[in-house]
Amino acid sequence: MLLEVRDLRVEFQTRDGVARAVDGVGYAVDAGETLAVLGESGSGKSVTAQAVMGILDTPPGRITGGRVLFQGRDLLTLKESERRRIRGAAMAMIFQDALSALNPVLTVGDQLGEMFVVHRGMSHRDARARAVELMERVRIPAAAQRVRDYPHQFSGGMRQRIMIAMALALRPALVIADEPTTALDVTVQAQVMDLLAELRREYRMGLILITHDLGVVADVADRIAVMYAGRIVESAPVHDLYRAPAHPYTRGLLDSVPRLDRRGRELNAIKGLPPNPLRVPPGCSFHPRCPMAQDVCRTDEPPLYEVPGGRGSACHFWRECLRG
Ligand SMILES: Nc1ncnc2c1ncn2[C@@H]1O[C@H](COP(=O)(O)OP(=O)(O)O)[C@@H](O)[C@H]1O
Ligand SMILES: [Mg+2]
Repeated sequence: MLLEVRDLRVEFQTRDGVARAVDGVGYAVDAGETLAVLGESGSGKSVTAQAVMGILDTPPGRITGGRVLFQGRDLLTLKESERRRIRGAAMAMIFQDALSALNPVLTVGDQLGEMFVVHRGMSHRDARARAVELMERVRIPAAAQRVRDYPHQFSGGMRQRIMIAMALALRPALVIADEPTTALDVTVQAQVMDLLAELRREYRMGLILITHDLGVVADVADRIAVMYAGRIVESAPVHDLYRAPAHPYTRGLLDSVPRLDRRGRELNAIKGLPPNPLRVPPGCSFHPRCPMAQDVCRTDEPPLYEVPGGRGSACHFWRECLRG
């Protein structure tokens, strides 16, 4: 396994108390595989990724438990200097907002080239040539000229391509893309997602694709991990999950996606809001919003039950849910 996260816990000390932003998360990604991490805003997707990448702000954040096994080593036990060497070269991250992730005062050529100068000891001339190649690879028109431009001179979609190029420059084994297309127009979203999927195949890298948009993941992901209130509530191969969700939250998410075969039907967005992390409900944290909730759900926290087919569900009633 390329990456295995086990029972990861992250807390934030706030004025009003301790927020358990990540509360025992586990997931795994193999080489060449795409894992989609899905969930509403605030469910802990980004904080989990930041802990995996080693870029969590501590304080206010604190990792209070778990393991992050990457290529067999527990990253949480490494020195910061070792983690820095892994970051960028062996694992890289793509962020939602390229404009704030890229350096505004450096040309994109200098930023791309720097990867090769710093990590590969290349000359500036060779690094520049590699930067142009990369820009061509992510299909930026007139790359040889545009390599001298600054980030703000590109459209949002082109900037996102540049960030993908930066992330993939050193051919990392693992890429984490955190809502990589959320800020883009719908048509541009699809192009950028296609490019990412194509490069993922070509480089055989593991990809963690974080999104709140179930519509984005169907075509590109192998597995899905659904997060709610800092936990994984369902994990399954993507097609099995679409066909028959094993958790009412997943069902709610599926019902809120417009689908051609359901045209005319009203969209069923899940009622209510995700819990405040300072006041997560007892029992199953989803129970106040759950149409299937019973007494046991208000008192007993469900473990991640094993569901046939290599799946998992944190619902006491996963069998009933699977039957639909
Ligand atoms: N710097 C911070 N200080 C306090 N709480 C934070 C901080 N960063 C994130 N959180 C909390 O952690 C939880 C998970 O956040 P996040 O991982 O960003 O959610 P997602 O990416 O799923 O939208 C949220 O409830 C958020 O309020
Ligand atoms: Mg996020």
